[in-house]
Amino acid sequence: MSWPNWLPLRADLADLSPYGAPQIDGVIHLNTNENPFPLPNVVASAITERISAVASGLNRYPDRDAITLRTKLARYINEVSNTVFTYDDIWAANGSNEILQTLLLACGGSESLVLGFTPSYSVHPLIARITGTPWINGNRTDAFDLDVESAIEKIEKNAPKLVFVTTPNNPTGNVIPLSDLRKLAEAAARKSALLVVDEAYQEFSTEISAVTLIAEYANVVVTRTMSKAFAFAGARVGYLIARPELIHALLIVRLPYHLSAITQAAAEVALDHQDELQAEVNLLISERTRVKAGLEQVGLRTIPSSANFLLFTGFSLSSSEVWQRFLDRGVLIRDVGLAGYLRVTIGSPAENDQFLAMLKEIAA
Ligand SMILES: Cc1ncc(COP(=O)(O)O)c(C=O)c1O
Repeated sequence: MSWPNWLPLRADLADLSPYGAPQIDGVIHLNTNENPFPLPNVVASAITERISAVASGLNRYPDRDAITLRTKLARYINEVSNTVFTYDDIWAANGSNEILQTLLLACGGSESLVLGFTPSYSVHPLIARITGTPWINGNRTDAFDLDVESAIEKIEKNAPKLVFVTTPNNPTGNVIPLSDLRKLAEAAARKSALLVVDEAYQEFSTEISAVTLIAEYANVVVTRTMSKAFAFAGARVGYLIARPELIHALLIVRLPYHLSAITQAAAEVALDHQDELQAEVNLLISERTRVKAGLEQVGLRTIPSSANFLLFTGFSLSSSEVWQRFLDRGVLIRDVGLAGYLRVTIGSPAENDQFLAMLKEIAA
């Protein structure tokens, strides 16, 4: 887009377009890794009740430190990972994207450097760019695994201030074992760098979370979201687990009262219902196995996934042609820009049935 002269947009942003996957009505959405299940009635009603209680107090600013929500998030992480965090170790924001941006506002900038390993979550380099932080790319193997020795070399050679890894990785779905994360944390610490582990899909994985490294390594920062496992993408709640000193640094750049009273209240209720929501995660994990088998039955290949999506390959047409054929039949999947690959989000059993039914005629 060419910008008018009167618009003083930063020159380094002028060639960018807004991020966004297509939002199309009337089709099955298997493109943005959302949880396909509407909130259970019991959770939706509890949220409605809680929000009506909060509504009359909306004349006041919310708790800008979201202490109750952070305490509940700490309890959730402690239960799952056997840790001893308090609200002091947790920060919450409007989605983990806001968490990542806050982190780069505080620790990035032109004097800093971020190292990431693509293909991975495309918003990481975008936020680096928007915050004026130079980005360098490390490689993955042909199977999309992180080669930990070459990653360490890259850290040693380039001395980044932040190292971003995503596990399970988006768009590939594969994980980095905890033993490798430990090696990366050590290499990053030797260069006084943060290791930022994006665990947006952690609940769909059996790997031990990187939150268990934080007690030992002060430079480990883990970002999480309620968008996927908690079926809460529309509410916009992400959070970070890190040493309190890092969280105090984030307070310098966070906008005052950034997390609304309504968002905080809704998220607190969802956390009180984590058991009901976890049942859906288990169903999605078993559906992932079924969809993977369906893809393989028609001769396609999948990357091992510990997330709520599968990256697949082996079709004879181009990615964009296969993507379009699915869309023409009412199923929206994701062309992630990797030639020969497409990503499908695991939907409800009925949605997956529809995806599998059209697979043979389209993709083989
Ligand atoms: C790896 C990864 N991190 C972060 C996010 C952002 O999640 P949120 O909805 O919390 O902003 C996503 C969303 O798809 C993701 O795939």
